[in-house]
Amino acid sequence: MTESYRGRIEKTSTGMKGITRVISFTSGKGGVGKTSSVVSTAIALAREGKSVLLLDADLGLANIDVMLGVTPRATIHDVLRGEKTLEEVMINGPEGISIIPAASGVESICNLDSEQQLTLMRAIEEVAYQFDYLLIDTAAGIGTDVMFFNSASREIVCVVNPEPTSLTDAYALIKVLSTQYGEKSVSVLVNNVRANSMPAEREAQMVFNRLSTAVERFLHIELKYLGFVPSDPSLIEAIRSQRALMELYPSSPSGLAFASLARKIDAEFHELRVKGGMQFFFQQLLEMSSHG
Ligand SMILES: Nc1ncnc2c1ncn2[C@@H]1O[C@H](COP(=O)(O)OP(=O)(O)OP(=O)(O)O)[C@@H](O)[C@H]1O
Ligand SMILES: [Mg+2]
Repeated sequence: MTESYRGRIEKTSTGMKGITRVISFTSGKGGVGKTSSVVSTAIALAREGKSVLLLDADLGLANIDVMLGVTPRATIHDVLRGEKTLEEVMINGPEGISIIPAASGVESICNLDSEQQLTLMRAIEEVAYQFDYLLIDTAAGIGTDVMFFNSASREIVCVVNPEPTSLTDAYALIKVLSTQYGEKSVSVLVNNVRANSMPAEREAQMVFNRLSTAVERFLHIELKYLGFVPSDPSLIEAIRSQRALMELYPSSPSGLAFASLARKIDAEFHELRVKGGMQFFFQQLLEMSSHG
């Protein structure tokens, strides 16, 4: 371990031994609430005193900056050209979270040559060491970029909603993660749950059970129920006004759900952290890029 590396570790505010917890939010189907969930979870974790870096890895479509009404000063393209550091690209979000906005102009990680990929990974790793959490918002589906960032993460949160197509698409994604990428465990967040004939909690559990029954039967991967977020007009209103839900309506049903989700994530992921954080992230990315 070099001195500068150790120095960075000591800078970590509340992190355990400088380990950055890397969690990607992903989904099979688009529009199920990844970006809303990852942004709100990031802010909720920050409220718990954690330092959080949010990476918008939905490369083609800028999402997080639009949702929060913040304007990127520069793009990852500038970093790749050597004209900016990643710190200069990072923008501040609510509650002191830091955001790496989507790389406009970079259509796919796979379009970058291996030197550019390496530059990007190193740059992300460099800055991420300073944070307790690196949360990654991926695009939907099973594209190479999605898998790239999911495989790089220590924890994967698959966001679903109660619609059947969301579950079949989640199954397809989990299948690829399991069979092609050797993932052993995925957490499931059930979003946009309405209390109809039964309480939302039970409805969410049933949605999870439907998915986990199929997964248990056909795939060798553990599915964990992370929790649920109710369907909430406050969330839609916050998106419309390009402000953070957690700032505007922290006591709304979805705001409270994200606050408790963040506490759960923090409690659980503390215990789960057996293997390292960022070092693993970096190695994974290197292995993946050398394979393809
Ligand atoms: N809990 C919720 N309550 C009400 N509406 C919701 C909820 N979650 C998401 N939505 C609606 O779904 C829309 C899509 O959410 P979001 O952009 O977070 O999804 P996404 O999975 O990131 O989409 P994409 O795949 O396009 O990146 C929101 O604009 C909002 O209208
Ligand atoms: Mg999104």
